[in-house]
Amino acid sequence: MSIPKTFNFGGAVALVTGSGRGLGRMIAETLLAGGAHVALHDISEDAPAAFGEAESLTALAKELSARGPGKVVSVLGDISKEADVAALVKKVEDSLGPISILVNCAGGDIAAKGGKPNPNDALNISLEDMQAVMNRNFVGTMLMCRAVVPGMAKRQKGAVINFGSLNGHIGVVSEVVYGCAKAAILHYTRCLALEMKPNGVRVNAISPGPTTTARFLATRATDPSKMDGVSLERYAKPQEIADAVAFLASDQAGFVNGQVLRVDGGMTLFA
Ligand SMILES: NC(=O)c1ccc[n+]([C@@H]2O[C@H](COP(=O)([O-])OP(=O)(O)OC[C@H]3O[C@@H](n4cnc5c(N)ncnc54)[C@H](O)[C@@H]3O)[C@@H](O)[C@H]2O)c1
Repeated sequence: MSIPKTFNFGGAVALVTGSGRGLGRMIAETLLAGGAHVALHDISEDAPAAFGEAESLTALAKELSARGPGKVVSVLGDISKEADVAALVKKVEDSLGPISILVNCAGGDIAAKGGKPNPNDALNISLEDMQAVMNRNFVGTMLMCRAVVPGMAKRQKGAVINFGSLNGHIGVVSEVVYGCAKAAILHYTRCLALEMKPNGVRVNAISPGPTTTARFLATRATDPSKMDGVSLERYAKPQEIADAVAFLASDQAGFVNGQVLRVDGGMTLFA
């Protein structure tokens, strides 16, 4: 028996939504380093520049492409729009081949007009913001799965990793609809995993705790005691989330299906 030293994604084609920046970018870089061909995706060319992570999606694709070893392409589209999703999936498969790893990372607690919904609680959030948050997270994840998973099922091969959040597991007084959207994604993950069992497609989810992406650091006052990067009472580092995604995408997780992996240092401990 040979023991692999690290995850091997040689021959895989990975589409990571929202990978122009933040966690998605770190996941894309990690899968690329493991040998996958990678499709970077974002809602706009300049999304990677919002918090200074790259000049543009095209510039990032060029940078990662030079690094290899896999190929890198970039695609644009709003995951909450069915026509965008169909077009971007087609573009990825036309240029890289059938998608075997889908990471639904795009999302966030963003209001219809940008910024955070305000108010953002259980009773006062506007209908417009409720719909925007549900669309950007839950509906977008479903549309991506609807576009990619049937092909995986036909080929009897594929791994899907969806993104929840700490807020999808615990009661909160702010970011309530965001938490509900993430909880819906986690339940959808279990349902799709069950439906796909006969087809050999694994569907799992990651629920990160607070993680020091550029957006996270730029949009709140952080607690210095949680920045040490070492203890278990701190913010997660983006690479720690990407490593968990890599595990779920890998053959080493071949019998892990329909699960939610909370990567939060043990911040949430319940059955
Ligand atoms: N960073 C954290 O602390 C944290 C914690 C828990 C969960 N999460 C989740 O992890 C994921 C990544 O978070 P991040 O911190 O890297 O955030 P981020 O804002 O840096 O990255 C999110 C990416 O998704 C893209 N995106 C958003 N809406 C989109 C849409 N409708 N269509 C296409 N692309 C869209 C954005 O442009 C951006 O590139 C999100 O789903 C987020 O909810 C993050």
